[in-house]
Order: sequence, then structure tokens, then C-alpha cells
Amino acid sequence: MGSSGEIIDRKQHDIAAAANAATYDEVLTRTCTELSPHIKHPTLKRLYENLIADLYQRAAENSSVPAVLDIGAGEGSVTLPFLEFGCRVTAVDLSTSQIAELEKKCSRYADRLETRCMDVTEFLETTAERFDLIVANSFLHHVPDYVGLVEKALMLLRPGGQFFSFQDPMRYDTLPPVTRIYSGAAYIGWRLFDGDVIRGIGRYIRRKRGVYLDDSPEDNTEFHATRNGVDQNAIAEMLRKQGFEVEIVPYFSTHSPFFQKLGETLNVADSFGIVARRTDR
Ligand SMILES: C[S@@+](CC[C@H](N)C(=O)[O-])C[C@H]1O[C@@H](n2cnc3c(N)ncnc32)[C@H](O)[C@@H]1O
Repeated sequence: MGSSGEIIDRKQHDIAAAANAATYDEVLTRTCTELSPHIKHPTLKRLYENLIADLYQRAAENSSVPAVLDIGAGEGSVTLPFLEFGCRVTAVDLSTSQIAELEKKCSRYADRLETRCMDVTEFLETTAERFDLIVANSFLHHVPDYVGLVEKALMLLRPGGQFFSFQDPMRYDTLPPVTRIYSGAAYIGWRLFDGDVIRGIGRYIRRKRGVYLDDSPEDNTEFHATRNGVDQNAIAEMLRKQGFEVEIVPYFSTHSPFFQKLGETLNVADSFGIVARRTDR
């Protein structure tokens, strides 16, 4: 570890990783798919499915059995479609219950699936494998240094390889005020309906105090995701510097079906995907 900055980053990373391991327990694993906007809202599901079909087509130009790395794979919502396409997938996640669910869901394709229950950073730093496609779905907002993590991941891509991320909130302070207000209101509306207001206030107070207690469910929930969203432009800029063609795909995403429809009608965007391809093949 070179500098104090790196040490702080590593400490923040470890807190977020511990909070994620505690948050993604068996209970959350059971409800994950109901909670995921990109799975439950038909318009987002369609967008997402079209993007991954295109990614597969391109990967298949590189290799007859494309090798996919799914980072923060969770219970396998991206791993499964790539296995169905015929890819070989390595799925990495630090939650034992998420990985167990992924293995159950993908058991038909066990001969093309490898699972690794560990921190993604540790995997990226130690593996000798190389991939045609790296996917990070609803994952980057769980990592404090997400730009550094993506940069590390790119080193594992073969020439002509692709990077794909989806379902991350855009960096909040880059959103126009109207979008921020609408997005915040939609979230609060969903929380009120969900009956989670009191716990939400508890989480907010703890985070303001900068205290992380690893045996507190409120702290784990609060620390398991970044608070200012994910900087789509910083990731895109880093990818372009590394010689990638990059497309940012903006869209609106929230939990409540009512606010989702309204947001789409108002044409606001608060979430994004990134499709990037190495141009050196
Ligand atoms: C919102 S879920 C997304 C799961 C899946 N990719 C999907 O699209 O449904 C985020 C996942 O990231 C995992 N995770 C968070 N931080 C991690 C880390 N540092 N290393 C490995 N997995 C991590 C969590 O355990 C959780 O399963």
C-alpha cells in the first residue's frame, strides 16, 4: 500500500464490502429480484435485455464461446442470460447466500459456470484469467473507488473485449435540479409506502456521525452503497483514455411502478448503463 490516500480508500472499501456481506443475507437474497427495478419494470427489462443481446453478438464475433466475468454477480440475474446464450461465465460475489442462489438458478449450465465467493478486488488482483466481456450490473454503486475498480477489471479484457455496467444511479450532483427533486420524491414515496421511514432516519443519523458498527443492520444498509451516486462521466473518460469506444445509456429508474411510469413520461434520467469496447483488435 503506497500512500495514506490508498490506505483510506482500502479502509472505505473494506467497510463497504463488510456492509454488503452483511446486507446481502438470506432474507435479502430471497427478495432481491422483487426489489430490482431493471428486473421488475418491463421497459427497463427490455432495454437491459436488448443491450445484453447486442453485447453477446459482438462477443461472439471474438470467440465461439465468449468468456464473461460477472462482478458483483449477486443471485445471477446477468450470469443466467449469458449462460443461456452459450457463454462461459465466471461469477464473483462476496455474499455466500447470493452465490448459493446463483448456483441453484444456473445449475443447468454448471459445466460452463465458475463461481468465486470473494471480494471482487481480491479476485481482480489475483486471477490470471482473461475475458471477452466484463459485466457489472447494479454493482458499481457498492464500491467506493468504482473508477479504480473498473480500471483494474479492464486489465483482464482480451483485445476487442467489452465492458458493460447497468443500473447505477448517476452522480447526484450532476443531475438537473428537477430530476433530483423528482428522483428523491419517488424514493421517499416508495419508502413511505414500504413502511421503512423510521429505520431510514436511523440510518441517516448514523451515517452523519460517520460511525460504522458491523453488527448494526442500519449501519450495514447505510454503508453498503455510495451516497453521491456513481460518476458516469469519470468512468467514461477513464475508458476513453484506455482506448475504448464508450456509450453512456441514460434512463430513469425507481422502485415504485407508479413513479417509474411517470418518470418515463416526463423523460427524466437518473440512472445509467455503460457500453464500452476496446478498439484494438
Ligand atoms: C444489487 S446486487 C446486484 C446483483 C446482480 N449483479 C444483479 O444485477 O442482480 C449487488 C451485489 O454486489 C455484491 N458486492 C458488493 N460489494 C462487493 C465486493 N466488494 N465484492 C464482491 N461482491 C460485492 C453484493 O454482495 C450483491 O450481491
